[in-house]
Amino acid sequence: MSHVLIIGASRGLGLEFVRQHRAAGDHVVATARSDEGLAAIEALGAKALRLDVANMASCSGLAWQIDGETFDQVVFCAGVLGTRTSGLQPPLEAEFDQVMHTNVLAAMRLLPQVIEALAPMARVAMVSSRMGSIGLRENPSAWLYRASKAALNSVMKDASLQLAGRAICVSLHPGWVRTDMGGAGADIEAHTSVAGMRSVLATLKPEHNGSFFNYDGQVLAW
Ligand SMILES: NC(=O)c1ccc[n+]([C@@H]2O[C@H](COP(=O)([O-])OP(=O)(O)OC[C@H]3O[C@@H](n4cnc5c(N)ncnc54)[C@H](OP(=O)(O)O)[C@@H]3O)[C@@H](O)[C@H]2O)c1
Repeated sequence: MSHVLIIGASRGLGLEFVRQHRAAGDHVVATARSDEGLAAIEALGAKALRLDVANMASCSGLAWQIDGETFDQVVFCAGVLGTRTSGLQPPLEAEFDQVMHTNVLAAMRLLPQVIEALAPMARVAMVSSRMGSIGLRENPSAWLYRASKAALNSVMKDASLQLAGRAICVSLHPGWVRTDMGGAGADIEAHTSVAGMRSVLATLKPEHNGSFFNYDGQVLAW
């Protein structure tokens, strides 16, 4: 039985991680910011913790909330898209802050909070996006979101250097998935995406520390 922490699990990919790990018999701790999200997690038999990843006080309480737990796997899943811009429209400052705080600052605040709770060579995964890849970029749609995921990948890389020999840190692209964020016209179901990401995480070796994977195991360019 694995011990797993899923951050941002009220719905979408995070809740699907909870569902699949519970179905596999794993001990799951998962976070959400709303009563509805906490109830959805508890309904799957997981331990639910309240956490608003964009709130500094809430983030700073995670370490004591998970005191005594040891995790084989931690998945950072909470994220927001922001406006679906098509060109170089400057974001409003409030939206810039919301997207960057949720997608980047949260990981920088929460990673230090979970380090003490990591089992030896635990897997630490950032659910990032291929849209954050600079090498694979073909258009500038949703450029604020793209910038946030590129920054998240940088955060993951620094974590991989800091935790080398202690954990295996990776960024994951979940595919284009039919969730509230991905929309009804996306390529794949959450079940397929999460099954793929779980399989990638299960087969990670120490030499994969600091890598960027597609949900099907393909290595992605930065
Ligand atoms: N779907 C795709 O095609 C796709 C593609 C590439 C990457 N991704 C990434 O995959 C991750 C999950 O996306 P999804 O498709 O599952 O999106 P989603 O259905 O929109 O779910 C987003 C999740 O993030 C949580 N969240 C947002 N802000 C939060 C905050 N301040 N505090 C706590 N939780 C917060 C939401 O909680 P609330 O219910 O409280 O809002 C929700 O659980 C994101 O990081 C996203 O960028 C998705």
